[in-house]
Amino acid sequence: MSQKRITIRPLRLEDASDIYEITHMPNVLWGTSLLPSTTANFWFHTIEQWVQDERMHVFVANISDKVVGMVSVRVGTGRESHVGDIAMAVHDKYQGQGIGKMLMLTVIDLADNWLNLVRLELDVYTDNERALRLYKNFDFEIEGRKRLDAFRAGSYIDSYMMARCVCVPVAMDQTNNGHYPIMLKA
Ligand SMILES: CC(C)(COP(=O)(O)OP(=O)(O)OC[C@H]1O[C@@H](n2cnc3c(N)ncnc32)[C@H](O)[C@@H]1OP(=O)(O)O)[C@@H](O)C(=O)NCCC(=O)NCCS
Repeated sequence: MSQKRITIRPLRLEDASDIYEITHMPNVLWGTSLLPSTTANFWFHTIEQWVQDERMHVFVANISDKVVGMVSVRVGTGRESHVGDIAMAVHDKYQGQGIGKMLMLTVIDLADNWLNLVRLELDVYTDNERALRLYKNFDFEIEGRKRLDAFRAGSYIDSYMMARCVCVPVAMDQTNNGHYPIMLKA
């Protein structure tokens, strides 16, 4: 198989039709909470809002001028401004080729080195082995299970809540008056 150059870059408005295609792939519908009825118009308007939203950071993976994957981090507000919510998808034909890993590396670099986010979180269906492996490789940990979280192809399914924290809250005790001092990882 010939080698193709993969570029990771920020999302652009003109990516809407490629994003529409990705989000209608059977395996992407299987792994996300998207609906197959979502319209091209919906994606055009969503992307229009995203590119103007300072809290929304989206990168895409590009091969031969075609967008084949995307990752987003939405930064929280107020007392959750240290938290980022991650979502990602790779086109069915390009899955299992390391593109998810490249997108995750990019968004983690943004979170750690540019946005100074302390906590990254996401939800993943419990049977999504490939996504679970990717997230665990990047130090996301399972924090809990949401039972009957979504309906997919005629059945209810559970999700894991996962998070990656770059600081370790030290347990509360009497010496710190109920506050959580933050210990940064080396
Ligand atoms: C989940 C997803 C984003 C991962 O992206 P990807 O490009 O396919 O993943 P990668 O090729 O980078 O592989 C990630 C890891 O999964 C492993 N993997 C690949 N295929 C696998 C499989 N069938 N089962 C389990 N692990 C698998 C890879 O080996 C790699 O782990 P490693 O680095 O330890 O070898 C992508 O598959 C996808 O978009 N799936 C559909 C939508 C979805 O599920 N989105 C996530 C919602 S939470």
